[in-house]
Amino acid sequence: MAGLIRQEDLEAVRERTDIVQVVSGYLQLKKAGRDSLVGICPFHSEKTPSFSVSPGKQVYYCFGCGEGGNVFRFVEKVESLSFVEVVERLAKEAGVTLRYEGDTAAGRRALGRRQAVHRAISDASRLYHRMLLDGSEAKDARAYLATRGITPESVERFEIGYSPGYPDFLLKRLSKTYSPELLVDAGLATNDSGGALRDRFRGRVMFPIHDLSGNAVGFGGRLLAGPHAAANAPKYLNSPETEVYHKGTLLYNLNRAKADVTRSGRGFLVEGYTDVVALDQAGVRTAVATCGTALGEDHIRLLSRFGDRIVLAFDSDEAGARAAERAFQFHQSYPVDLSVLVLPKGQDPADFVLEAGGGEAAGTAFAHVMDQAVPLVEYMISRSLVGRDLSDVEERARAVRVGLQIVAGLTEEVRRSEYARILAGKVGEPEMAVMLQLQQMFSGPGGGPQAEQRGSKNHRSRTPPEEEVEWEVLKLLVQAPHLCRGRLSPADSERFSKPTHRKVFELILDSGSTEPAASNGSNGSNGSNGSNGSTAASLVATAQERSESLGRTLAALSVEPLKSDLEPTLDYADRLFLRLEEFSLKRQADVIRKQLERLNPIKQPAQYDPLFEQLAALEGARRRIRNASE
Ligand code: UTP
Ligand code: MN
Repeated sequence: MAGLIRQEDLEAVRERTDIVQVVSGYLQLKKAGRDSLVGICPFHSEKTPSFSVSPGKQVYYCFGCGEGGNVFRFVEKVESLSFVEVVERLAKEAGVTLRYEGDTAAGRRALGRRQAVHRAISDASRLYHRMLLDGSEAKDARAYLATRGITPESVERFEIGYSPGYPDFLLKRLSKTYSPELLVDAGLATNDSGGALRDRFRGRVMFPIHDLSGNAVGFGGRLLAGPHAAANAPKYLNSPETEVYHKGTLLYNLNRAKADVTRSGRGFLVEGYTDVVALDQAGVRTAVATCGTALGEDHIRLLSRFGDRIVLAFDSDEAGARAAERAFQFHQSYPVDLSVLVLPKGQDPADFVLEAGGGEAAGTAFAHVMDQAVPLVEYMISRSLVGRDLSDVEERARAVRVGLQIVAGLTEEVRRSEYARILAGKVGEPEMAVMLQLQQMFSGPGGGPQAEQRGSKNHRSRTPPEEEVEWEVLKLLVQAPHLCRGRLSPADSERFSKPTHRKVFELILDSGSTEPAASNGSNGSNGSNGSNGSTAASLVATAQERSESLGRTLAALSVEPLKSDLEPTLDYADRLFLRLEEFSLKRQADVIRKQLERLNPIKQPAQYDPLFEQLAALEGARRRIRNASE
């Protein structure tokens, strides 16, 4: 998506937009330091300001929730807009005329093709819909929808359709306008085993799927049981991945539901298309569904842009439980409260609504069970207790251990102790004992479970010293590249013990910001503050393009103050790089020491002696470095 607008125009917009001015439109900023303004974070709830903006680097970062990036990312988040929409809006304000890659011949072809794919899918959607409304082949489909309680209003609202059973319903009608390759690329046609081209969807009730802007991008097709249904055909057939259909980042009905989700703050994530439709009929307009794929991180991310409470209302079977487990793994990265609703009697939401008589009454009944949604973590704890005989002492101890594994994964202290209390209550053990055991997990050798780190100050307290040094080095590389020239080369990525640190280091090296200005082309820095700011700004931009979390990390590195009390000096940099080297030598020495422990110096001198010499050399080097840095 970022590929559509020309890079140079993107940069022009970025350069002519002042992040301070933009952010000030949403919250009050107060001066806090030489290059820093602070305010109340718009992305999580807080009472004291931890949201920080650096005018020099044009980057924001929240020390409370870890959200950060440049002005594009800020507007994207705060307005729930797509990247392109953000750039278009800011370009207008900055007076930059955008040129699109479509302005080149190849780009125009690519863009034209994408639009053609969109058009083909939306044409197909209309054809299926008309067919369902009045095609004679669609009689069974209409009857089926009626038995499922799906009203004609819903058929209209959701543009539900029917693909008849024969192989060329679409092909016949669309091949005048679109090439066979395009129809295949759009996921509408496939080559069958004999190589013949045929419609992908046959004999199915069609649920068109739209992107956030309401463009039709694909379909989910429900098989109609009938004489021509192939025995091995799946109940639902979904569009394949195409240029415009990415199931990992799509939520069925979010285009319609997003306004209501934003208004109410709450959204329901259900499993099936029919669940969404049934709930909508019952007046619950905030339900969305994944499209024939497991719940993933991007789905939660997407939904968290609109609501801050998400209820997972999955079928009360293993599938729902698995979804909860997946959500548990990444829920802490997003500013949402997740809870789980398990419906009685193995029903899915559609069954529930139908049984409750559909319409308003069903909506009220649903609202009632909804109140029984359980916070995700509590749900996980309860699940870990299922099938345990809690009258048995050993079994209770085991239950506490397993439950604490879940609790220990929480990054917030308060949540840990609250859920430890809940666990104690459920197992029937004294709260004190469970809390104590939790504390032991954190103070035991090795510092206990390593919570996910997002560069935010809150988590930094448990960081091992070598990672702290690595983080400080990375900050220096970002904030004061002129102090780092010539100190590190690609081979030095091994000096960083933490994989994410290594990734960041490689990104910084790739950008060339620590090279002498001559070989650096566009953003050569000459050591003045202004150009260090632009180094940080372009690093954040590059990182954001790679991934959201990398963007946040670079924002943190740009904004978090260095540990040098004043402006960092060459001397400060010297000492920091020496410490980095020292830790790296220590790690190497530890590896060799472990190898030596497994060797017998008398019996295996050929292996032992050279390793021992290496160890001595490493330790010598380490001592020299220690002396030099003192
Ligand atoms: P369900 O089987 O629960 O769908 O699958 P449903 O809507 O409740 O089924 P019926 O129509 O009432 O009998 C839920 C979702 O799982 C995906 C689809 O996205 C469906 O909406 N699914 C299911 C598939 O992708 N393929 C399948 O074969 C089955
Ligand atoms: Mn279902």
